This record gives sequence, C-alpha cells and structure tokens, in this order.
Amino acid sequence: MKALALDFEARTLAWSHLDSPEFFANRDVLYRVHEVGVCGTDRALASFQLGAPPKGETRLILGHEALGQVIETGSGVKSLNRGDWVVPTVRRACKPACSSCARGRRDLCISGKYTERGILGLHGYFTERAVDAEEDLIRVPLKLVDCGVLIEPLSVAEKAIARALAVHEGEPRTALVLGLGPIGMLAAMVLKARGFGVRVQSLEPLDHPRAAILELQDIPYESVLTGSADIVIEATGSTEAALLALRQMPPLGVMVVLGAPDGAGPVPFLRMIVNNQTVVGSVNADLEAFHAAVEDLARFERRALAALITRTRFSDLRRTLTGAPMVAPKVVHVL
Ligand code: BGC
Repeated sequence: MKALALDFEARTLAWSHLDSPEFFANRDVLYRVHEVGVCGTDRALASFQLGAPPKGETRLILGHEALGQVIETGSGVKSLNRGDWVVPTVRRACKPACSSCARGRRDLCISGKYTERGILGLHGYFTERAVDAEEDLIRVPLKLVDCGVLIEPLSVAEKAIARALAVHEGEPRTALVLGLGPIGMLAAMVLKARGFGVRVQSLEPLDHPRAAILELQDIPYESVLTGSADIVIEATGSTEAALLALRQMPPLGVMVVLGAPDGAGPVPFLRMIVNNQTVVGSVNADLEAFHAAVEDLARFERRALAALITRTRFSDLRRTLTGAPMVAPKVVHVL
C-alpha cells in the first residue's frame, strides 16, 4: 500500500510502501480509508515540531482525521458490518492503563504514555487500509458520509465546549470563538446550535472566504476584538489573543484553551479571583464528544458544511502538508 510517512532519522516526508495491515484480534475491523483531512497538527508534524514514530521504527505514517468503509470484521465484532462507514478515534490507552485510560477516558490520560494514531507512536491513516478495534471506531450514518471526515476535528470542539459548560457556574448565554480555522469554525457552529449568541474573532480580513461561511449561518465575524463573552474558546494558537479576551471576560466566564502556546504577558489573576473565572485546557476527545459530533453534524446546515471542505487527490498530500496554507478551512484528500 502507498503511504505518506515522516522519517525521523532522515528528517524527510516521503511516499513509501507498506504491507497491508494485519487483521488479528477478533474485535478488529479492517477498513478501506476513503478520505483523510489535514489539520495544523499534521503540518506541525511535517516540519518535525512534534510527534514520534512507533517504538523501534524510524518512520511514522501521518494522518489522524480519517473516514473509511468496513471491508471485514473479526468474529467478535458486534456493532459494525461490511460496508459500514467509520471514523477512528485518535488516542489509544497507556499501558498499563492509568486510572483515566482504565475508565475509557484516554483523552484525560495522566501518565502521559498514551499513543495517538498518526501523531505519537502509532501509524496513521495516510494510506489505503487500516485496522482498528471496534471500540475505537465511530459509525457514520450514511446520510453524513459526505461530511463524516469532519467528525474528528468536531469531536475536539465538542469536548472543549462540554468542558466549558461543566465548569461555568451561572447561566452562560454568550460565546466567543478565537480563530477562523476548522476547529474554531466548528466550535462556533456547535455553540450556535446550542442557542448561544456566538461570534468569532480572528486576524483574517472581514471579506475573507472563511468569514463568508460564518455569514451563511448568521454567525458574526470580527477581525478586531470587541469584548469578551461568558464562554471563550481559544482556537487561534495565539497567546496574545487569548490573554486579550481573558482580560475582558465577564464574571464567572470560562475560557478553554486549545491552541495557544506558552507565552508571556500579564495574566489577570486578581480579576479572575474576584470574578470567579476559569481557564481550562483541553485536548483530544472522549467517546461522548464523538457521538455529540455525529449528532451535531446531522443538525448543521449542509451548505455550510460543504463550504468547509475542499477535496483534492491523495497524491497532493505533500503539498498540503508543506506548502502555503490553503484558504479552505479543511483540505480533505481522497484516496
Ligand atoms: C488531534 C487530537 C490530538 C491532538 C494532540 C489534534 O490535532 O485532533 O486528537 O489529541 O492533535 O496530538
């Protein structure tokens, strides 16, 4: 099988050949990968800023946002059949399992020894066939196959929003999303579907094509911050933007940071104390968030979903990973 892999020794990103995956456990599912999305993590991997190959290997096959169709199931698989469409989760439990991984919350792994398909210690999905355990696959209803590749990034937004709502101790009504990337746009769509008065702020000009996709859904966009909100989702990768919004957050406000790196700047601790505010970090997603993603996808406006995705060939992957960032929020490669 053709696969796109990072070689951590040669520091190259190259097409290589891979044996078809082995299908060994009776809870395993073999599936054909049809589409894979690319995100900021993949681009950071492609420039060796993060990630690691599987133990004892030098290469890592990238790709963690996959959509596939089941070819064969092990005898113990109960919920999936040949022909079903699936999206794999990304993270796998640490071994021996820490208390979070043991209760099925690998996204909250506390040992730090988890692995992630296509990112950390496990090969990913930029290839033709894959095997995963039934428990690591989310079934995609037929009517959502055309946008199913968005389920993984959407699950990350769903978990972040669930965390914010679990922490907020009042009646949050307004939301602000920082960032016009796929996670930011999907987070805004979830918050709107939940009835929040949501707006998005980012640096892109007001006439940027991504802003037009928000406009389609009556989600206001601003390129200069005009105040904060009860719930703030940071998906910009900018510490300055996060701190600016934090300094204006109302009482009881909750900010979830998803992408901002370490940075310097005054953190308004005193203001946070007297206003009972919270800043929460969030990564990856639990099964509940994946299922919420499937439900929300079915509610979102189809036109907006279609506008989020630009499809291109599998052979163009290298360009998407290493070339100038594309205007489309989500570039999807078709295998
Ligand atoms: C993925 C997550 C993953 C995170 C950190 C993100 O791009 O969507 O599933 O946990 O990267 O590796």
